[in-house]
Amino acid sequence: MGKTYNIAVLPGDGTGPEVVREGVKVLNAVASKFDFKLQMENFDFGGERYLRTGEVLPDTAADTLKKFDAILLGAIGHPDVKPGILEKGILLKLRFDLDQYINLRPIKLYPGVDTPLKDKGPEHIDYVVVRENSGDVYTGMGGNMMKGTPDEVAVQNMVYSRMQVERCLRYAFDFTRKRNKRKTLALCGKTNVLTYVFDLWERAFHEIGEKDYPDIKREYYHVDATCMWMVKNPEWFDVIVTGNMFGDIITDLGAITQGGMGIAAGGNINPKGVSMFEPIGGSAPKYTGQNIINPLAAIACGGMMLEHLGESKAAEAIEKSVMNVTANKMKSMAAGKMGYSTTQVGDLVAEGL
Ligand code: IPM
Ligand code: MN
Repeated sequence: MGKTYNIAVLPGDGTGPEVVREGVKVLNAVASKFDFKLQMENFDFGGERYLRTGEVLPDTAADTLKKFDAILLGAIGHPDVKPGILEKGILLKLRFDLDQYINLRPIKLYPGVDTPLKDKGPEHIDYVVVRENSGDVYTGMGGNMMKGTPDEVAVQNMVYSRMQVERCLRYAFDFTRKRNKRKTLALCGKTNVLTYVFDLWERAFHEIGEKDYPDIKREYYHVDATCMWMVKNPEWFDVIVTGNMFGDIITDLGAITQGGMGIAAGGNINPKGVSMFEPIGGSAPKYTGQNIINPLAAIACGGMMLEHLGESKAAEAIEKSVMNVTANKMKSMAAGKMGYSTTQVGDLVAEGL
């Protein structure tokens, strides 16, 4: 018997539990094939728990989760809870408290999946966005005054330290090298307007790249142009590295080019700590409990988690099986139009391993 990994499972809200159930199904199937064990423990963090207890997240949550090898998350967001409370109080809080300073978001079009990009196929859409996940406007630094009056002022600061920028860039360079495709890292910024923050990014990018990663080609794009090229020439990209806010925005654009929220997976990575894998689509409340939501993003998250834990062969097996299901079975990636139920899609992937 191989290794045992302790996994914290946070199904969360809405369709989160339904997609996580399929992710867990596929993980257990692949573990028995590749001779390792997954010891899973469930946590009920989310909107239901908040409405029931009034507590967003127990104070002990981060310390408890630190003891696990990885975290699998479904979705956070509840229609009866004011926007921001759960997102900030659970998702962002865990990203910060666990110092998951990288948000890794592969943009890969699987065979058989429709893309809104004309004349583009799987051979054109296969790159990864390394989104910085700890700084930027997400730090909450800022404030307001004279709220509710015509003179109200509000400020929310884009904050980056050299340390945050540097650790993210090094991760991105290492990732590009390990990925070993086109060995090209593109920095996405806005040096023409954000002349402090992206000047810091750009200087660090070239200094680090020149000194420690001479084998990696460096490119720079403004964020607005990045959006344009992600639509027009996605095949240009290998790895993109960017700040937290721009990364949030461009990865939704990327997700729709790879078939939408049903298929886009992501990982919040702390390279030296515990990482958390989550489908980038939300809790999709209107589809809750109907067994019609697409679980592939959650299943792919399981694959990313195994890759991160060092079980590369098992991760590859999941991806292959997912690709087989998209290419040969499913009619669509959209909820209710897949030609199969959520459960059946999970079964197909598990059986195809
Ligand atoms: C994401 C989400 C979150 C973010 C929200 C829910 C706080 O949009 O994971 O991309 O902005 O990071
Ligand atoms: Mn987002």
